[in-house]
Amino acid sequence: MENINWSDLTFGYIKTDYNVRSYYSDGKWSDPEISDSEYINIHIASTCLHYGQEAFEGLKAFRGKDGKIRIFRLYDNALRMQASARGIMMPELPVELFEKAVKEVVEKNKRFIPPYESGASLYLRPLQIGISPQVGVKPAKEYLFAVFATPVGPYFKGGLKPSPYVILRGFDRAAPCGTGTIKVGGNYAAGLSAGEIAHSKGYSAVLYLDAKEKKYIDECGPANFFGIKNNTYITPDSHSILPSITNKSLIVLAEELGLKVERRPVKVEELETLEEAGACGTAAVISPISRIDDVDENKSYIFSKDGYPGPVCIKLYNKLRAIQYGDEEDKYGWITVL
Ligand code: PLP
Ligand code: COI
Repeated sequence: MENINWSDLTFGYIKTDYNVRSYYSDGKWSDPEISDSEYINIHIASTCLHYGQEAFEGLKAFRGKDGKIRIFRLYDNALRMQASARGIMMPELPVELFEKAVKEVVEKNKRFIPPYESGASLYLRPLQIGISPQVGVKPAKEYLFAVFATPVGPYFKGGLKPSPYVILRGFDRAAPCGTGTIKVGGNYAAGLSAGEIAHSKGYSAVLYLDAKEKKYIDECGPANFFGIKNNTYITPDSHSILPSITNKSLIVLAEELGLKVERRPVKVEELETLEEAGACGTAAVISPISRIDDVDENKSYIFSKDGYPGPVCIKLYNKLRAIQYGDEEDKYGWITVL
């Protein structure tokens, strides 16, 4: 940790001191135990390795100007982890256990929580995996829940600086009745090849369309999508996107800022009419979109010509960050102060 340059952090992995683990067997979860190892020792036939029985979460802890440590929307992440577990036949982790383990990881790695001024944060990564052997395609009998922490900066290079996204019509992330609404590793494996094509061509990420009709906007590889027009915050409603906790928060903040909110199917052509567009998520925070290229259709939609984010993106970003860092009152009970 010795010379971390907090302000230059990207979204990468830096070793921290401790992680927390809890095991499930015979219908019971063990008390969380603390480990200083970065490794886990599991059976070669574990279901997570072969059949993708893995779910994860992502949330952040922030150090405030007042020195206090705040975790953003801990409870909501606990509930989503349960939904993900149900979706791939894993036992649900009790909310209290999730909360206790996350708090413990933050507490034990306090020295890695970036200082307020850096604008960085401590990223927390809870995960749940099937660890007992199964060669037939069946759920495991035993599970591991673990949480690790790593200090991070912006997910997309440049942070609030708008960057380009791409529609690649030859790729889908999730099927309409598939696993797109839960946070399981398989969804991200499915997006790796499209993601790498996008990166190699200079795009921040892929903007996926609905897999069935390719008519509507779904979401970005690692974040939800939103657009702004006529003083309205518009975000897709879809059966194949992750219910983003950041997006849910921005909807509340947009209303507070006097915007109307519409959560509904968004046709690709509607991109033409948006004044601003952005990706939102725990890692992405708000990442404004400068341009979306629909390469197979030979079309481009431009949202920022001058390299600056639009006024609504800036307002929403500032409001969200102010709550996360404790500069603004937590009216909605989103913060757990450690
Ligand atoms: N969509 C996908 C596919 C994601 O991986 C994430 C990240 O968690 C999000 C959206 C944003 O969700 P949240 O705001 O809860 O982090
Ligand atoms: C997050 O925003 O927490 C994510 O999980 C997104 C990405 C790193 C997969």
